[in-house]
Amino acid sequence: MSYRVGVISGDGIGPEIVAEARKVLDCIGEKYGHTFEYEEILMGGCSIDATGEPLTEQAIAQAKGSDAVLMGSIGGNTSTSPWYQLPPNLRPEAGLLKLRKSLNLFANLRPAYLYEELKEACPLRDDIIGDGFDMMIMRELTGGLYFGERKTEEVDGVLTAVDTLTYNENEIRRIAKRGFDIAMKRQKKVTSVDKANVLDSSRLWRKVVEEVAAEYPEVTYEHMLVDNCAMQLVKDPKQFDVILTENMFGDILSDEASMVTGSIGMLSSASLNDTKFGLYEPSGGSAPDIAGKGIANPIATILSAAMMLRYSFDLDREADAIELAVKRVLKDGYRTIDIMPQDAKKAAVKQVGTAEMGDLIVERIN
Ligand code: IPM
Ligand code: MG
Repeated sequence: MSYRVGVISGDGIGPEIVAEARKVLDCIGEKYGHTFEYEEILMGGCSIDATGEPLTEQAIAQAKGSDAVLMGSIGGNTSTSPWYQLPPNLRPEAGLLKLRKSLNLFANLRPAYLYEELKEACPLRDDIIGDGFDMMIMRELTGGLYFGERKTEEVDGVLTAVDTLTYNENEIRRIAKRGFDIAMKRQKKVTSVDKANVLDSSRLWRKVVEEVAAEYPEVTYEHMLVDNCAMQLVKDPKQFDVILTENMFGDILSDEASMVTGSIGMLSSASLNDTKFGLYEPSGGSAPDIAGKGIANPIATILSAAMMLRYSFDLDREADAIELAVKRVLKDGYRTIDIMPQDAKKAAVKQVGTAEMGDLIVERIN
């Protein structure tokens, strides 16, 4: 089969890490008889430089015309880059938000998994880590505070800013269903996270999640307040299977979950709509401080490409091959700098750069 993959290399380390993911996809293509045709799509700072906008209508059309989009990262240093002198709707991040909304990518899947080989990189104590953990954060991605009305104005001579948190029951129902569907393929447990002791939107969230839960009698579910969840993630991450939550809570909790796995450089993500289309990107940012140095960890992007094969193209065997190759490479002792162990254990592993890591994964697929 032939697949059209839109590629948003973006800014910072984006182009370097995407290049490695393409290397891996090409290797999969050769080995399993598929063709991946890439089309570069401009978004973020590089698009601002080229067109004056973070995402043009043409770029949206290109993304819509693809079978799936693979993305690196966008944005720069928020205190020094000229992109951040622009009005908010013209900054790099606005491109990503516009793309999510235009493509209706309401379901954001962020797996957080602790690799046996990377236990050393996990900042938690051994007794908390136990046999490791494996959770999936399901974040609602096109509603809530991110897309509610906002304004800043003077009220009685005082500058006042307003952001609005809105959800309707349909938006909650569709993400809840996705969450429970995914739980059915995992450990059959959903933790729905909200702030129902304070927010109306959370009380509606809870009511709708309960209705959806009734359709999945095999899935155990619980509600958890977001502040408690932030604590539980470091106290006992093993308790979680699927964490189902709204946009802003999911943004915050997924960064926290990624850090308990050791490095954000390991974590992939998928943003899906109700067709087979998806946008696949590493959970980490553009890391402008290390851009161009050839030291960024490409694994999150490579694993995002594996998610693309699994969720958009139904190529489970091929996705398994990539995930297995990543495990092998770690087992064989190769590490990028972000996942290097502390001093005493350094001798047991070998530090490699971005491209070498990509090559090592390709070798193991072959
Ligand atoms: C993320 C990022 C984005 C978000 C930013 C870049 C707008 O932090 O994907 O988690 O807040 O959603
Ligand atoms: Mg974030």
